[in-house]
Amino acid sequence: MKILGLLLIMMLSLWANDGKVLFTKHCASCHTPFIPMLKLKENFLDHNNSLFKLKAPTLNQLSYRLKKRIGDPKGDEELHRMEVTAFMSDYVMYPDKDKSVCLPEVLSHFKTMPSQKGKVTEDELEEIGTYLYNFDNEVLQKKGIKYEGFEKALQRAKKEDKIIMIKAMTKTCHFCRKMDREVMIEKEVIEAIQKDFIPVSLDISEHQLPLGIHAELTPSFIFVDKNAKVLLNVPGAWKKNDFLELLKEAKAKK
Ligand code: HEC
Repeated sequence: MKILGLLLIMMLSLWANDGKVLFTKHCASCHTPFIPMLKLKENFLDHNNSLFKLKAPTLNQLSYRLKKRIGDPKGDEELHRMEVTAFMSDYVMYPDKDKSVCLPEVLSHFKTMPSQKGKVTEDELEEIGTYLYNFDNEVLQKKGIKYEGFEKALQRAKKEDKIIMIKAMTKTCHFCRKMDREVMIEKEVIEAIQKDFIPVSLDISEHQLPLGIHAELTPSFIFVDKNAKVLLNVPGAWKKNDFLELLKEAKAKK
């Protein structure tokens, strides 16, 4: 019985410390967790926030902007997470729009956040900080495109008569992130890729591209047919509709 009780207490304390649970409890009444970027742009830029009537920036906006603007995004990840968490914790206690890092055209829709002093502890903010820091990537992993390794992709391309789409990227490339966040998460794009392509993502600062392919810029998109022949190799980041056109062009080369 004693052990069971202890286990229960341990589980409860784990549960209570979960960043997601704490965010939901302390922050989600104002900060909606996730809305896709293109919808957010529409809401704020074209509809004066009348589409979603948001009370505050969404968590995916906070995660992206804070990570981009606070500390050194290209440096050590653990250190960066601490810098972002420190900024966030300070903001929650002492909000001041002069310190804000979200875009002015987003912030103009909101009053300054009320201080949460006394409502949330430093320890809780630490957990919330980790959750916030990882949120952007978790969303991409859950809702975005699922990539495969090249060798496996080639086998599958042969079997399923599909085209391999290699995304040449680096972790710190701004336009790669922007495209992941704005384009590679859109339903139409995911469906178009699932139908005719097998997506492979390669970090060219860590790996060489297969088949002796070169990419000068990141991102670059390289389309390879089931016989390992390169159909197209195009550098640059794309908006949703242009990218859908590019997919069509690659299909036409097959
Ligand atoms: C009562 C509503 C409300 C609650 C609760 C709330 N916020 Fe906010 N928050 C806002 C609003 C509105 C803004 C945008 C205006 C501003 O920057 O002050 C904001 C802005 C922020 C910013 C600054 C964004 C920037 O541009 O730099 C951070 C960080 C933040 N909130 C974190 C949190 C966290 C973490 C919690 C939970 C512990 C939380 N907020 C709870 C309303 C709220």
